Formats: sequence, C-alpha cells, structure tokens
Amino acid sequence: MALFYVNPNVKKGHINPELQGHFSEHLGRCIYEGIYVGEDSPVPNVNGMRTDVVEALKELHVPVLRWPGGCFADEYHWKDGIGPKERRKKMINTHWGGVVEDNSFGTHEFMELCRQLGCKTYINGNLGSGTVQEMSEWVEYMTFEGVSPMADLRKENGHEQSWTVDYFGVGNESWGCGGNMRPEYYGDIYRRYQTYVRNYKSGKEIYKIACGANADDYHWTDKVLETVFDHGSGFMSGMSLHYYTIPTGDWGVKGSALDFDEKTWYRTLKATLKMEELIKRHGAIMDQYDPEKKIGMVIDEWGTWYDVEPGTNPGFLYQQNTMRDALVAGINLNLFNKHCDRVQMANIAQMVNVLQAVLLTEGDKMIKTPTWYAFHMYRDHQDGELVESSVETRQIGLEDGYQVPNLTESVSVAKDGKLHVTMTNLSLTESERIQGFFAETPIKSIKGTILTGAMNAHNTFEAPDQVQETAFDGVDVHGNQVEFTIPACSVLHLEAEI
Ligand code: AHR
Repeated sequence: MALFYVNPNVKKGHINPELQGHFSEHLGRCIYEGIYVGEDSPVPNVNGMRTDVVEALKELHVPVLRWPGGCFADEYHWKDGIGPKERRKKMINTHWGGVVEDNSFGTHEFMELCRQLGCKTYINGNLGSGTVQEMSEWVEYMTFEGVSPMADLRKENGHEQSWTVDYFGVGNESWGCGGNMRPEYYGDIYRRYQTYVRNYKSGKEIYKIACGANADDYHWTDKVLETVFDHGSGFMSGMSLHYYTIPTGDWGVKGSALDFDEKTWYRTLKATLKMEELIKRHGAIMDQYDPEKKIGMVIDEWGTWYDVEPGTNPGFLYQQNTMRDALVAGINLNLFNKHCDRVQMANIAQMVNVLQAVLLTEGDKMIKTPTWYAFHMYRDHQDGELVESSVETRQIGLEDGYQVPNLTESVSVAKDGKLHVTMTNLSLTESERIQGFFAETPIKSIKGTILTGAMNAHNTFEAPDQVQETAFDGVDVHGNQVEFTIPACSVLHLEAEI
C-alpha cells in the first residue's frame, strides 16, 4: 500500500498549456504525408492539411507548435517557401535523408495549420546560415500590419492580415547542427539577431527563445546567460533545453522501438527520469542569474529516440511507439507539471511519423500511438494550478544502477474546480494499492481512465486499437480518502469533484 497525499489548498504554480506542446520539422514524413498532403490529394484534407490528423490533434488540445526545425531551421530560407507553389525553389534536405524539399509547405501553410489546430505559433529562426536581415524580414512579413516591403509582399501573396508569432527561437542547437558555436560566441550573436526580432504589435510581445543546452552541458547554460542575461529586459524570454531518451545512453546503439527486454524497459525509464536532474541543475544556474524566474526553461525537444524501423530511410527517423513510450510521456509530463515554476514550455519530438510521434500515417491511414493516449489523459492539466502532492515510492528494477521509483504523479486543479490526478506505474510486474488523502477536502465523486498493456504493446495499421484508453472505475471514496489499485505498466488519469 502506498500513501498518496494531496492538498488542493496549497497551490504550487500555474501549468502553462504549452507544457504539452509539439514540434514538427521538415524531416522524413512529418510535414509531408504526415500533416500536409496538398489540396489535390485524394487523402481528405482542408487546404492541404490531412483532416484525420488535424482532428486527432485537436482532441489533444495542442497548445503550441514549433516549426520548421530542428536542424532544418538553420538551413531554411523562408523566402523559398512563399508565393506561387510552382515557382518555389526546390532544395535537397541535406540533414534528413537527402530528399527533395519543394517548399510547398511554407509560412502561409504553417499559419493555416495552426489556425486549424487553434494553437499558438512557435517559429524557429535561422541563425546558423541566415542573415540578420533575413530573420528580421521574416518577422516583419508575418507580424507587421501596416505598409512596409514585407507586409506588402505578404499581401501580394494573398494574406492581407498579419499573423501572430507567439514564440520565436533565435537559432537551434547552435552548439551543434546550428553552427557548432561556442557559448560566448552564440551569446554575442544572439544579442545581435534578437535586436531585429521586432515587436510590431503593441501589447503582444514575441517571446524570444535563446538556444540552450544539449542535455547536461551546464557550461553552455552558464556562459550564454552570462553573455546575454543582464543586459536589459526584452533580450530573452526563454532558454531552450534538448534532451532525448535513448535506452542505452549510447547514440551508436539506440535499440529497437519494439523489440526490447525487461532490462531495457527499466534502463529507458531511468534515462527518461534524468530529465528531473537536468531541470533542477540547469534551473539552479538560471536561478543565479534570474532568481525571480522570469526567464522560462523551454524544453523544446524531448522524447524517445530509437533505431529506425527496419527497411525505412535512416534519415527519416521513423519509429514505432509502445507502452514504454506512453510511460516516458507520462513521467515527463508529470515532471514538467512539478517544475512549472521554471518550465514554461515543452515540445515533444515530433508530432507525426518522426521519433516519439503521437500519430503515425501510411497512405490514407492514420493510427494513434500510446503516446497520443498519454497526452490525451494529461490534457486537463493544461492551464490548471499545480497543487501540493506526493506519493510513497520504492525503488524497482532488475540491475544495480538502473533502479527507478515505482510511481510518479502530479495533481492540478482546473478552472472549473475539478482536481486532476495523473499517475504512472513503472513496474512491469506489480500493481500498487494506493491510499489517497485529500487533506480536509471531501471528494464528491471521482472517475478516471487508464492506459495499460504489455511493455511492447502497440498499435499498427492492421490492428489500430491494441492500446487504448479505457474507463477506470475502481476507486473507493470515503470522505476525503480514496483507495484504488494502479495496475503494472500503466498511465492513469483521475478526475475528482471536490
Ligand atoms: O528532432 C530531430 C533532431 O534532433 C532535430 O532536428 C535537432 O534539433 C535534434 O538534434
């Protein structure tokens, strides 16, 4: 029996909807085929966007979408992707599979996609191979309402009204594919480029994101902040962090998405739990410069990274998705909630057909992955207030050095007053009886859903419903106390009326 304590009266911070954000890159079949099929496609679409995909994403209440990359962003020249499609430049996508990029999905298409999804926009600018002028003009093209060369060009291209750019990334992985820079150098050119990311809309400042560290590169965080931070407000609103879960911890041998054993299960979850250490340690450096936590940590790439599915283009990063991925998602989304005082956005990599995708497509077929269900079960946390909670855990696992706690959880109270509990059981073999105490708050009613199955259970195009969220009604309520059993290998969502 594990004790689970919740105090709905102690609020710990606001859960930005953006903690459940997404990332879409011109990589493999994410944008093309996965999201955008073009208006003339036999696949049902609205203005070129697949209807099945848009509808499934709307069910998740996608709060924000990052685009066009990733490594692609620092090779992307936005003017190639505007105007009549037949005149748009074709290029080779050198980073990802060496395929032809015909630029048929550009700024107008991205903004249309965000309109259909009803989500905020996060544009990642090109600092690695683009000019200051190019970045500056892109912002002008998208956001300037009046008369100007770029606003006029947008109007000529059929869009009279300006769009809103909510978030703007000034470079991506500038320590690697985005230019192989040192942090002091990046910090200096960040200062220069961001100067020309103008705020053309009064009352709507663009949230500027500096390129942050790769995993545990704390030196990068420190030096970029030292170079950029204390030079007046408006220089930077957030700083990114990228961390991928690789089961082996070795980029050379990542392992299969489907074919893995129990040891690899625990190794994967151990690797994903490192996210908490990263948040705390990068957060501690940020605290030194910014104790009031004005600058957000933006974890704009996270998720599992395995070997590609056999027979697929290695540059397309297409992988299947199992209950293991659902647990990775559940653990991380709980962690982001718990650290919502510093983490202001997180974007899973990537939305469709790439890495830890929520949706997979094949021709006109689409399936929801276990990760989709985890996001679906956590969506009610969006815009809620994190409340104080803790659960008793014990260490489990099969090998020394790869032990993990058996449970993770987070609890929020929504605007309508309902409490939302999300809990993960990391054990492959043992269910856990939970005894919950809700301080002085009597529970009027409680209902829930659960996602559970074998460790490598997954959905396929032939059997799309192998893993599905189902109703969970095994909760006994006595006043301010509840009892329930969370099965092994599961993600649980409870909604309580108080
Ligand atoms: O998500 C795939 C790639 O991983 C991104 O393009 C890059 O930013 C990261 O290294």
